[in-house]
Amino acid sequence: KKIIIINGPNLNLLGKRETNIYGSLTFTEFFDTVVSKYANVTLEHFQSNIEGELIDKIQEVGFTYDGIVLNAAAYTHTSVGIGDAVKAITTPVVEVHISNTFSREEFRHQSYISPNAKGVILGFGLQSYELAIESFISGS
Ligand code: DQA
Repeated sequence: KKIIIINGPNLNLLGKRETNIYGSLTFTEFFDTVVSKYANVTLEHFQSNIEGELIDKIQEVGFTYDGIVLNAAAYTHTSVGIGDAVKAITTPVVEVHISNTFSREEFRHQSYISPNAKGVILGFGLQSYELAIESFISGS
């Protein structure tokens, strides 16, 4: 199976950004352990701080890959364009968030991704990504 993790803005700062919320592991450190743990699947990672680049990547992989694990970060709450891209493709998308966005500010309760996602996993720290990958491996 071919699965890609797509990370949105500021997630390149994991490990040094608001570590009380997002933890002290960098995404690269985490991704390396996940790649070796799920050696039987092809795992890719893409990160961008730019909305259009995220849309381009979703379009590029969205008709051939088996799964997209999408943390659109702040764009989750603002981007009709990313929401429309998720709707346009055929590859299933699992929306993930590191933090429990519902226990935070009101503006984080809204998601343009959720209505078109296969499912949503949030609040489990970086483990949220792993749970999403596992859903693609064991699910249909
Ligand atoms: C986040 C939650 C968003 O509200 C926030 O803007 C982020 C990260 C998360 O993974 O918890 O950048 O998507």
